[in-house]
Amino acid sequence: MTRRRLVTIALLAVALLVAFAFAVVIREANVGGEPNAEVPLKAHAREAGIDVGTAAEQNALRDYPGYRTELAREFSTLTPENAMKWDTLEAERGELRWEGADAAVRFARDRDMLVRGHTILWHNQLPRWLGEGDWTRAELRRVLRAHTRRVIGRYRGRVAEWDVLNEIVADDGKGLRESLWTRVLGDDFAGDVLRWAREADPDAKLYLNEIAADGISPKSDAYFALVQALLAEGAPVDGAGFQAHFNLDGVPDGFEENLRRFSDLGIDVRITELDVALPDGAGDDELAQQADIYAEVARACLRVERCRGITVWGFTDRFSWIEATQPGFGAATLLDRDLDPKPAYDAFAQALRDGGG
Ligand code: G3I
Repeated sequence: MTRRRLVTIALLAVALLVAFAFAVVIREANVGGEPNAEVPLKAHAREAGIDVGTAAEQNALRDYPGYRTELAREFSTLTPENAMKWDTLEAERGELRWEGADAAVRFARDRDMLVRGHTILWHNQLPRWLGEGDWTRAELRRVLRAHTRRVIGRYRGRVAEWDVLNEIVADDGKGLRESLWTRVLGDDFAGDVLRWAREADPDAKLYLNEIAADGISPKSDAYFALVQALLAEGAPVDGAGFQAHFNLDGVPDGFEENLRRFSDLGIDVRITELDVALPDGAGDDELAQQADIYAEVARACLRVERCRGITVWGFTDRFSWIEATQPGFGAATLLDRDLDPKPAYDAFAQALRDGGG
């Protein structure tokens, strides 16, 4: 075979491979977009007097038209999943990267969606210069105050609520979680950060947001005592978030009672990060159990006076954090990898339609 023919065949093979790869990318990027039901979740939620939202994954928001279409159709609030975290915004000290957060806020505001900012102070996803820095109390307070004012100030009037303090309660309920913040600032930083946040945007609602404090437990008791103490000192606390990262163990005992005791303090409560992780290889029974858990959470929120809404932490298994961080678990969301509804979607919608009954 002549050299010329060999080159032609090789070029053809490469062209076919590129075309195939391109087709896969296009197909991948075009998942979803078809309506999941006659009436979207946000309409059922609005009818029931709450809102329903999702965390938005910034690459999916950028690259997948179907993801954008489904998100806008089903949800009325949006929380940037990672784009507003300190390690994303300022990986290098003083070098701010706003594009992901700006894109999420723009997407939401263009669709009249409420934006929940997430998050100002957290022990996780800190840039190395901060997390590994050798700080005096005064220096770290200055850095934290500047960050709080800069981030909340940038979105003043566009972000309606902030998870200002994320997961600061110790898991055993004994005081605050040991972190850079407690090591350097001590245990009395919460009120100051909330006051700095209020100065940066007087109209934004300021939340604490806790993980694994969903039922009645030593941790949720400590969370409750912290919020009471902050309110007693006059700190600007507008709401308490309950992340509700569940699995097939189900909704913890006292979930509704726990929401209600915070609501009875006169602050708003929200389920802020709902997902229900399934063990790999889950079948119809596990999907049905998952559906029941989503529905139970919806009913609990609808029965608590100041429960303002429910945010799911991702709405499709294709972009859920669970697979990447919890080996052996996944399929935690309302829609499957093709953005088609799972039993959980239908049960969640039905519970919203039924109200808190
Ligand atoms: O951005 C980098 C990318 O450059 C790199 O190539 C890639 C692989 O290493 O990692 C990417 O960073 C990942 C980041 O998500 C953005 O995708 C981190 O490794 C990964 O750990 C991080 O996971 C996030 C997790 O918080 C971190 O703890 C999840 O997406 C996010 O859903 C999850 O969300 C938290 C809430 O903010 C607070 N409540 C708990 C919840 C679950 O942990």
